[in-house]
Amino acid sequence: MSQKFDLLLKNGKCLLPKPNDSSTDNTLGAKLFISDSDIAIKDGKIILIQHSIDEKNATKVIDLKGKHILPGVIDSQVHFREPGMTHKEDLESGTRAAVLGGVTSVFEMPNTNPSTTTAESLQDKINRAQGRAHCNFAFFIGGSTENAGELNVLEKLPHCSGVKVFMGSSTGSLLVEESAVLEKILSNGSRRVIVHSEDEARLKERKQIALDSQDVHDHPVWRDVDTAMISTKKLLGFARKHNRRVHVLHISSEEEMQILKEYKDIATVEVLPQHLTLFAPDCYDRLKNFAQQNPPVREKRHMDGIWKALQDGIVDVIGSDHAPHTKEEKERPYPTSPSGLPGVQTLVPVMLNHVNHGRLSLERFTEMVTENPRRVFGIKNKGRIQVGFDADFTVIDMNAERTITNDWIVSKCGWTPYDGMKVKGWATHTIIAGAVIMENDQLLLKSKGQPVEFEH
Ligand code: DOR
Repeated sequence: MSQKFDLLLKNGKCLLPKPNDSSTDNTLGAKLFISDSDIAIKDGKIILIQHSIDEKNATKVIDLKGKHILPGVIDSQVHFREPGMTHKEDLESGTRAAVLGGVTSVFEMPNTNPSTTTAESLQDKINRAQGRAHCNFAFFIGGSTENAGELNVLEKLPHCSGVKVFMGSSTGSLLVEESAVLEKILSNGSRRVIVHSEDEARLKERKQIALDSQDVHDHPVWRDVDTAMISTKKLLGFARKHNRRVHVLHISSEEEMQILKEYKDIATVEVLPQHLTLFAPDCYDRLKNFAQQNPPVREKRHMDGIWKALQDGIVDVIGSDHAPHTKEEKERPYPTSPSGLPGVQTLVPVMLNHVNHGRLSLERFTEMVTENPRRVFGIKNKGRIQVGFDADFTVIDMNAERTITNDWIVSKCGWTPYDGMKVKGWATHTIIAGAVIMENDQLLLKSKGQPVEFEH
């Protein structure tokens, strides 16, 4: 008798890995192809992928004719504020926003209060997420002066997505300002270190610009391209010296891309939807402090440079850097207003809209939120539609036309920089471990998220 499937996804266009893809960590290319295939799931795993699978073997069948099935989208940079700032977000609300936007796994940042810099604080977050998170989760450990000597042990703790370093200060108190500490961190461990790269000395030196003008248009003047370049050059030099792989977050300038392209063997690159969609001065004219984030959104030539880098294969990963602050906080006079934009719920539709406008292919988008995070972070059993992998899927309708509005946002912050934006392309189902969590904007099943496992 043939095996009974728990779930059968029928008639979708699947983003599958190319057979015999032997490309290594940093090489990019067309790693995915689109195939008319059915997918059978049992016990939360993919057990069969085939052109046509008989429905009679399935307990539940979903007909996805006209839709694409992506491996579950992984957002590898979110700030969910728990513990310490839960009036902005918490692990329940942040993961709810994730699944409504089509995201199946999130890696959460350590700049909470307290910062996540110890085994205990990491375990505390895992405990808090269990039974409350709607999507899968893992947490970064923050690198600091105090824990630099233990990071080789901390980075290997279960459900730790790696070590995060802030070279420039942003929200929270995490900061690695001294080169000696950065070098110690880079020389003590083996997993990829992820870095917020802005030069703290230059930020301090130039802060007066923002204090004097009190105009958010000067945010990219205060935190200028040199602030990012000085830091990124320093980081890449140390990465080379210590032969340590790094992942440079939210690259905001054309200039940094020029240098990052020379370090593809050791440095992977993340960009954000906001740096691909918003540009100065337009975003500050329209959104004021609601466009304020670190590193800043800069003039259009940078947006174009980031797009070119993405098209040239210099960019590996797209993350949202979901960084919610309340409306009241954002309305404080600049520069007392906090930096950060929400984005976990809008990552998929904003980027699908770019796909529909011909800025990148669906395959390239998909690899940057599935296959590449899998490789960069060493994720176990996720990021691919492949037999034996977890049955996490993001189902999308490339023809759906929608308007993103603040009403749709379920993050505690209650706003999005894309309010009023018409998009084509929308996530219709979020499926996690074979369970339909979101369908047509409704949360169907709650709190099914599990901690993510890593290969190390
Ligand atoms: O603008 C930002 N906000 N950049 C960061 O790096 C941190 C983030 C936050 O946590 O608010």
